[in-house]
Formats: sequence, C-alpha cells, structure tokens
Amino acid sequence: MFDVAVLGAGAAGMMCAAVAGQRGLRVVLVDHAERLAEKIRISGGGRCNFTNIGAGPANFLSDNPHFCRSALAGYTPQDFLALLKRHHVSWHEKHRGQLFCDDSSESIIELLRAECDAGGVQWRMGCSVAEIGHGEHGFELRTSQGPIRAAKLVVATGGMAIPQLGATDFGLKIARQFGLKVVEPRPALVPLTFDAEQWQSLSELSGVALEVNLHTGQGKARGEFLEDLLFTHRGLSGPAILQISSFWKPGEPIVVDLAPGRDLAEELLASKSGNRQQLHTVLAGLWPKRLADRWLHLAEQGGKPGLASLRLADAPDKTLRALAQDIHQWTLVPSGTAGYKKAEVMRGGVDTRGLDQKSMQAKTTAGLYFIGEAVDVTGWLGGYNFQWAWASGVACGKAL
Ligand code: FDA
Repeated sequence: MFDVAVLGAGAAGMMCAAVAGQRGLRVVLVDHAERLAEKIRISGGGRCNFTNIGAGPANFLSDNPHFCRSALAGYTPQDFLALLKRHHVSWHEKHRGQLFCDDSSESIIELLRAECDAGGVQWRMGCSVAEIGHGEHGFELRTSQGPIRAAKLVVATGGMAIPQLGATDFGLKIARQFGLKVVEPRPALVPLTFDAEQWQSLSELSGVALEVNLHTGQGKARGEFLEDLLFTHRGLSGPAILQISSFWKPGEPIVVDLAPGRDLAEELLASKSGNRQQLHTVLAGLWPKRLADRWLHLAEQGGKPGLASLRLADAPDKTLRALAQDIHQWTLVPSGTAGYKKAEVMRGGVDTRGLDQKSMQAKTTAGLYFIGEAVDVTGWLGGYNFQWAWASGVACGKAL
C-alpha cells in the first residue's frame, strides 16, 4: 500500500512525486510509456523551453482564470531556476523571457528523475492502467503490472497533443468517472488550416516568414500577439499563429496586420510626391519579395488591374489608403486547425471549478488530485505550460 500513486510520469507528475517523496510519503509513479517524459525530451527543439521568466496568471487561458494564481505564486520561475542551479544545469534566455537549456532537454529529465529518486519514489514504467477503483481505504489501480493500492491518487496524464507519443484522454475519463466536469478539450498552440480551394492562391508562399501583429476574439476572449508568421502549404503557422490558435474559435476571423507598428497610409502618402518607384518595388522593400508579388497579383485579380506597376507618384490617394488598410487588416477565416497531431497542447480539460486551487484536490472526492495539462489551464507559447506543470505539481506535492 502506497501513500500516493501518481499517474503520468511527465513534467507535472515527476515534480509532484519528487516533492511528496521528499516529504517522506511512499510514492509510486505509474506511466504506460516505456520511455520517460517524451514531451520534455522533444520540447523546445530538444532544448526544453522550461519556463518563462515573466510567467503570471495573465499568460494562461482557462474558463476559471483566477484558479492558477495560487499555484503560480507558490512556485515561481525563480524557484525552478534555483532547482536548476542545485543540479548544475545551465540555461539561457532566447526570446521574450523564454528560458532554454544550454545543452539538452535530457538534463531536465535527469534532474526530475534524480529528485524522484531522492524522495524514494518507485517507478512503474510501461505500466498501463485498465481500471481505477475507489473505496474506504483509497484507490486501487488495476494495471498490466498487477494491482497498485494507494491512499491518494494524483492524475497527471497530460493532454491529448501528439497521440503518437502516448498522449491520451485518460485524465478526462477519470475526471468524468468521479463526477467532475470537463471543459471541452481542443487542440491549441497549433497551425491553422484553410479550405484547399481558398488557400490555393497562397500555397506558393509556403516558407515565407515575417513579423506580424494579429488578433482574434473580443472582450475577455480576445488574444493579440506580435510574433513571426509562417506561410505553409495548407495554411499558416509560426509562433504568431500558434499563439492565436489558443484563442481562435471555429467560424471566427483572425485579423493580421502585415506591417505592424507602422502607419502605411501615412508613409505612402508622405513619400508620394515625385516618387517614380512602382508599388511593387515599394512593397518588396517592406516584405519578402514573394509576398509582395503575390499580394499585388491577387489585388490585380481582385479588380485593381495595373496596381503592381503603378508608380507611387501616380497612385490616387484613395488607392494607397485602401492598399494600406488591406495590409494592416488582412482578415481571414480559418477552416480548422492541424489537429492534435501537430498541436503543442490541449486547451480545456478538467474543470477547475471542481478542484481546490491550493491543493488541486477534487472537491467532491477526497484523496483525488489533478495537475498539469489535464487541468483546464493552458499557457501561451513560450515556457508557460511547463511552468504550470511545475507549479501545479509542487502545490499538490506539498498538500498531499
Ligand atoms: P505530460 O504530457 O508531460 O505527461 C503526461 C504523462 O502521462 C506522459 O508521460 C504519458 O505517457 C502519461 N500518460 C498519458 N496517458 C496515460 C495513460 N492512459 N496511462 C498511463 N500514463 C499515461 N511547453 C513548454 O512550456 N515549453 C516548451 O518548450 C514546450 N514544447 C513542446 C513541444 C511539443 C512538440 C509539445 C507536444 C509540447 C510542448 N510543450 C512545451 C508543452 C508541454 O510539453 C506540456 O504542456 C507538458 O509536458 C505538460 O505536462 P504534464 O505533466 O501535464 O503532461
């Protein structure tokens, strides 16, 4: 009989098991994967963007936005950096507070494994769980390695992104089994796709990248980011799109400013007098040439013949204003996302209104806890999701 069974030996599960084990609890960590923490391994291009130095509640999406506050305040990015220091793991800041390992994400896995070993955690890797029973004395897991009994159960089975790495919806099934509500899950931090016919005229831009400002949604559901956009064969990707995908709702438009931070109408009108440059040359100075070519070609096809070769000096003010507006407010409606196979995370998950924010314990079932990505707390791109995994894991590990 264990004090605690932690189901899922990923980022949150290992952190929680280590904290609980080091407090003297008898902990068993169960995972159906043969290899430990595959998502940490592949994260951040193999260097694991393990936190974001500015991580705070505003960087997370949830139906219950205040829920994450307590755990995030109780374990900060600085706390994780102190842990890295103790294990001599060196790191660097890459972009907007995103912290990566200098060497490889393996060092984070090794650190967590060592922390678990220091807490005497028992490992059950390659162990699948068929059924979870619950009675007076706690929980009984019917597993491929025999029954496991524990007074408390922590569910840390993550989200559904990248099923080919063993991601499942098991955490959500367990939540439902115990009468908890689930906020509808969907892929997030994911490329957006468009109707093949709609995208045909843009598919040749595949590989073009540029910085944009983009937004979607309204009021509290609005998301806005200044990031790099990448054109692909099927649609749009890159950090800008991954960020906005978490806010995007099917049927809604996204609005892309392809010349962020500038007033293009003002600039074009101010430099117009005596300027013999063709509009094509002007746009090619602003953007990758392929994008300038295609943009003007499509505008010409859309009823503005001769636009590309029009000299700036000869262009009517109205034409320049309309061109600038189209560039600042490129509005398009994605047909969908590239799905869990390409997503970095799952949005939605166990409804946090059914959980205690300090301990992550289910309000209606004593001894049952949910942490990490399985819970309806989803971070932006940039190290926030691992910070939530660490923080929720520590909050739970201390409360068990
Ligand atoms: P995690 O997915 O880490 O662990 C869940 C564990 O549960 C897995 O080991 C799985 O095998 C196990 N499991 C699942 N179902 C089970 C079942 N039925 N029975 C037994 N075990 C089961 N985030 C970030 O902050 N910075 C980054 O750089 C990246 N990069 C990144 C790249 C890619 C390609 C992906 C897919 C994701 C990221 N992320 C990220 C997101 C990050 O990996 C993710 O949010 C955390 O790993 C979530 O931690 P959890 O512990 O909740 O789940």
